[in-house]
Amino acid sequence: MPEDQMPEALAAASSSLAELPRPVAPAAEPARIDWPDTVTVTHVAHWTDRLFSFRTTRPRSLRFRSGEFVMIGLMGDTDPQTGKTRPLLRAYSIASPDWDDELEFYSIKVQDGPLTSRLQHIRPGDEIILKPKPVGTLVHDALLPGKRLWFFATGTGIAPYASLIREPQTYHDYDEVILTHTCREVAELEYGRRLVDEVRRDEVLGELIGEGFADKLVYYPTTTREQSPRMGRITTLLEDGTVFGDLGIEGGLSRVTDRAMVCGSLPFNLDMKAILEGHGLREGANSEPAEYVVEKAFVG
Ligand code: A2P
Repeated sequence: MPEDQMPEALAAASSSLAELPRPVAPAAEPARIDWPDTVTVTHVAHWTDRLFSFRTTRPRSLRFRSGEFVMIGLMGDTDPQTGKTRPLLRAYSIASPDWDDELEFYSIKVQDGPLTSRLQHIRPGDEIILKPKPVGTLVHDALLPGKRLWFFATGTGIAPYASLIREPQTYHDYDEVILTHTCREVAELEYGRRLVDEVRRDEVLGELIGEGFADKLVYYPTTTREQSPRMGRITTLLEDGTVFGDLGIEGGLSRVTDRAMVCGSLPFNLDMKAILEGHGLREGANSEPAEYVVEKAFVG
């Protein structure tokens, strides 16, 4: 969100204006790409020196289910042998909901990463490649009906939930929606924290979903390497029961009431699978819905 459109209370909630992500100015000469499937960057925000988010135009024909991902990227270097240039694409969760006119993405910056070392420099007006073929398992269709929906994320794994917490079906289908986000440092939580604040205040969403929808949304951020009000890996806090104590949930997770989506690094996903299966939940898929689904947070 541009700072000049930010609600006062939200701006005040940040400890200092200097810490807010600055919208990036348009490039004098926007970068054009000679490729059939491109979209134009409309907004870029840098959250930390390792994290940024950006918005793009949305192809009219692109339909997707909130929680899905697409392949996006830039043209790679020209092969000196063949003289050919190929696109450099990575899977990115769409962080915006299906009803949004634009698309949003949340990305890590890897300084020697083939794609993100370059992608982090995009500016409004630049073109990027987007293959309009959304896929993914973090979708409502892959879960059986339940009462409480858990979104478990580490790092940029919060991206699909940025879409799903703005999706009306999330609140129509569940009585309670719990978003947990574990990061190393407090600054890495900021994109999610700001988003949850915005969702809670969003009048359009209130009209779309029904007033009071935000009361269903519980945000549970934790850090592991910097002091914050809630410390520790979410896996540890689930195993020792801290999460259930904090949220007043009696009896822990149950196959009858609880549904879960998991998105983070591979070790995190595996640990979460073990925990969820230990509580009797089974992994679902589009073709066979069950009680939880998993997707890897993709690193560019
Ligand atoms: P930790 O600092 O204890 O490794 P990363 O930046 O490495 O992707 O990690 C993002 C967050 O996910 C960190 O807070 C990290 O905690 C946590 N994390 C990494 N692996 C696991 C895991 N297997 N289970 C739970 N949390 C994990």
